[in-house]
Amino acid sequence: MAGSSFGTLFRVSTFGESHGPAVGCVIDGCPAGVLLTVEDIRRDLRRRRPGGGAGTSPRHEDDEPEILSGVYEEKTLGTPIAIIIRNRDQRSGDYDTLKELYRPGHADWTWELKYGLRDPRGGGRSSGRETAARVAAGAVARAVLASQGIAIRAWTAAMGGISAPLPGHGDFDLAEADLNYLRVPGRDAAARIEKRLAELKEEGDSAGGLVSCVVSGIPRGLGEPVFDKLPALLGQGILSIGACKGVQFGAGFAAAGLTGSVNNDIPVPGAAPSPGPPALSFKTNNAGGTLGGISTGMNLEFQAAFKPVASISRPQKTVDRRGMVRDLSVPGRHDVCIVPRVVPVVEAMTALVLADLALRHRAAVIGTAP
Ligand SMILES: Cc1cc2nc3c(=O)[nH]c(=O)nc-3n(C[C@H](O)[C@H](O)[C@H](O)COP(=O)(O)O)c2cc1C
Repeated sequence: MAGSSFGTLFRVSTFGESHGPAVGCVIDGCPAGVLLTVEDIRRDLRRRRPGGGAGTSPRHEDDEPEILSGVYEEKTLGTPIAIIIRNRDQRSGDYDTLKELYRPGHADWTWELKYGLRDPRGGGRSSGRETAARVAAGAVARAVLASQGIAIRAWTAAMGGISAPLPGHGDFDLAEADLNYLRVPGRDAAARIEKRLAELKEEGDSAGGLVSCVVSGIPRGLGEPVFDKLPALLGQGILSIGACKGVQFGAGFAAAGLTGSVNNDIPVPGAAPSPGPPALSFKTNNAGGTLGGISTGMNLEFQAAFKPVASISRPQKTVDRRGMVRDLSVPGRHDVCIVPRVVPVVEAMTALVLADLALRHRAAVIGTAP
């Protein structure tokens, strides 16, 4: 089956190429009566747009969402919600030289290998532009989750080999991540990263980085073992974002080097009484908010790693469609590092997974659980 749809009950399909007339999404399964304004969608899209400064692409898009169906007087109708975002800043001429070449580190060759043809304009659907549609859909999922008190927050944890402070350390401040376009929660790290990105831009090179995400207010019980465990679906959702090379939950890969006595999150009696087993809380959160693929009620915590942007202006060797070795300096407008723009995409994919699991949880426990 084709891979442009995601989710089971809250199901989103995205469409559109980078330099076609529009990108967009259709959501089927959004419950009726959820408060949703165009401004909710616009706000998230604004955070995904190139933000200026040394690190991000100079492509200018208004990213104005149009809701075509499924919403009446700022409430969802329970019918399919269609949203489009028209592409306005298409300079496909930038990509003429790429018709015959495969960019190193990009999806050109594998798409042509698979489909026998490709849209070379900005990478077609393998472009980061596709994620605008996910962010629009994520804004709808967020509205569903907000009505349940669930809040999702991501930020830049590292870029260009420079780390932002960890929560509770140094000058960590999430408000600061909203103020600087790099989405770094610390002024000192933001300044050092900005300097590094300016150097890389000068050199025609690029950088990768890490995004951290925390979900608070998450109810206990979300996740559908055994194949649709919460981390399994979230892993799929986040890894489907272009350039993502890894996801880790809680202590993540570091847990492999710990002992059980250090890694175990020790349960303590929870505050609120609950039906069934006693309410629990945990002294630590090395598990990242799930056990057995089911949310514990602790914050969901994970990190995602993104590779350096593939399209760089520094000349590199590649191969053309005739199999000849060629020199390539990628034309067009590109980010030195996509991590700041990926932050709202990570939030959107998280919202899509959780909205779907929240609906599936109700179906799974009907008549047995709270
Ligand atoms: C928001 C966003 C913007 C992106 N911008 C670029 C870009 O300007 N240049 C580039 O080479 N890759 C960019 N990418 C990454 C490519 O889409 C991705 O690396 C490419 O499709 C190859 O896929 P892979 O890296 O997952 O194997 C972007 C990704 C996202 C999510």
